[in-house]
Amino acid sequence: MYRTNTCGELRLANAGQTVTLAGWVQRSRDLGGMTFVDLRDRYGITQLAFNMETNAPLCEQARRLGREFVVQATGVVIERSSKNSKIPTGEIEIEVAELRVLNEAKTPPFTIEEQSDGGDDLRMRYRYLDIRRSPVRRNLEMRHRMAMLVRNYLSDRDFLEIETPMLIKSTPEGARDFVVPSRMNPGEFYALPQSPQQYKQLLMVAGMDRYFQIVRCFRDEDLRADRQPEFTQIDCEMSFVEQEDVLCMFEGLARHLFKEMKGIDFGQFQRITWHDAMRRFGSDKPDMRFGMEFKEITDVAKGRGFGLFDSSELVVGIVAEGCADYTRKQLDALTDFVKRPQVGAGGLVYVKYNADGTFKSSVDKFFDADALKAVADAMGAKPGDLMLILCGPAMKTRVQLCALRLEMGSRLGLRDPQQFAPLWVVDFPLLEWDDETQRFYAMHHPFTAPKPEDEALLDDPARWGDIRANAYDIVINGCEVGGGSIRIHDRTLQNKMFHTLGFTDEQAAAQFGFLMDAFTYGAPPHAGLAFGFDRLCSIFAGADSIRDFIAFPKNNAGRDVMSGSPSPISQEQLDELQIKVDVK
Ligand code: AMO
Repeated sequence: MYRTNTCGELRLANAGQTVTLAGWVQRSRDLGGMTFVDLRDRYGITQLAFNMETNAPLCEQARRLGREFVVQATGVVIERSSKNSKIPTGEIEIEVAELRVLNEAKTPPFTIEEQSDGGDDLRMRYRYLDIRRSPVRRNLEMRHRMAMLVRNYLSDRDFLEIETPMLIKSTPEGARDFVVPSRMNPGEFYALPQSPQQYKQLLMVAGMDRYFQIVRCFRDEDLRADRQPEFTQIDCEMSFVEQEDVLCMFEGLARHLFKEMKGIDFGQFQRITWHDAMRRFGSDKPDMRFGMEFKEITDVAKGRGFGLFDSSELVVGIVAEGCADYTRKQLDALTDFVKRPQVGAGGLVYVKYNADGTFKSSVDKFFDADALKAVADAMGAKPGDLMLILCGPAMKTRVQLCALRLEMGSRLGLRDPQQFAPLWVVDFPLLEWDDETQRFYAMHHPFTAPKPEDEALLDDPARWGDIRANAYDIVINGCEVGGGSIRIHDRTLQNKMFHTLGFTDEQAAAQFGFLMDAFTYGAPPHAGLAFGFDRLCSIFAGADSIRDFIAFPKNNAGRDVMSGSPSPISQEQLDELQIKVDVK
């Protein structure tokens, strides 16, 4: 037997027992008469004690142990003379009688402790060492617990976990596909699934009624902190349901996770329509941990001789409570922030409503005290507050103000990662216009149903932008953690949708023929949703990056720096696949 106990298990109550532990040497301290070794495994750290007086050869052996050596130690559990209250095993140590080195180790390239001295790249290159560190290990443990809760919750409600293929047909909608060449079918390619969307719909046609899958998805898109090329969805689909049933089911799942993982009881989640979210927060994923709602002041702002306001479609601002004492430097920093190319505003107008009731603004030349009071009233500002105002084309300005709102929220400490504000965003537009290609695209995907009351608008191209979808996103702390929709189960409506998206009958048949065929054999009304599991984990842990919750993630260039992928393949492999590579 390699071990009788783990390194996280022994307490004072075990004193007197003879035990055998196995693990990695975290560090050792040679105090002359005594040598202490911290032995680590997944479960914790236990101190091994070696006494020079009672067993000099063993103590010598312990002194030679290097960091990360794998060892086995047998000895008696004794009470420590100097206790360590920071770790659960801190009251005991093992008086070692036998020590065996199971494997030596090279000195690791960074310290394997709570706080490492290794940079991001180095830790990724040696990810297996990084995972030995407790912060990463804890994240993976948390991910496992969440996955178990999800599986049990859904299984208890009659959902079946069904695997769908990883080698599928490429579809041009959505993000770019990762493709896999087929040796047996030269010149032809599989795609890796961006999501199992069509298969889960087929499972509904197949009568499976309630499906879920914790499933890997692949998207060849630009990477960010919350995006990986391969990521995991909790993918779900249900038959014979309406939007309300779906929202209730998955809100229930989210509530269950909050309760079990964080001990937080949520009542009903807030709901907001996409239009309201854009109007009030400039985003379809508003961070609701704080207010600072947009105040539209176009009417009050126009007609005072300030050309920029006068020529703008929208003048809109936020009120930063208690910030009227912002210095020139602070205001300049905010102006620089909105002018950054990522935000793209031309400038920022500020109005200080001083505590003594006077005003100071960057538009004093055009706005006298009465005019500024009118602005303050329209914005609901009070003495002591700072108003920050942007103007321009409506949608663009809202998006810019959203960036400023989030920045102010961060500066004012209103975005506590341990506070959670979940909400549903509903009634997304069905279609989204793309200036570059001059056509409409499905905002969610082509199988999303329009709201029945908007269905007739499909016959009027001038109104396509106004059609609302039965589509919903679940948003937590400004992050889209999931999304879904009611699906079109009627073939005529689906064909109409394909035409709207610019597909000819032939193109639609070539891309989606198998799904359309299936729909002729009795498709039930159905709907679903997919959570981004990595995002859900990172939000629950209050972390920014999903990378910390994936055992072996890719870097921002889509590379696995540990294994060195992607990498060229041999000429033989290329020949076999009949692929010619001509890299410039
Ligand atoms: P959608 O494309 O909105 O919907 O994806 C669902 C959720 O997956 C997460 N997500 C990602 N997470 C990490 N890295 C990525 N690159 C990435 N892309 C998406 C997000 C998102 O909310 N088939 C539909 C779902 C449905 O209609 O049922 C779908 O895939 O959290």
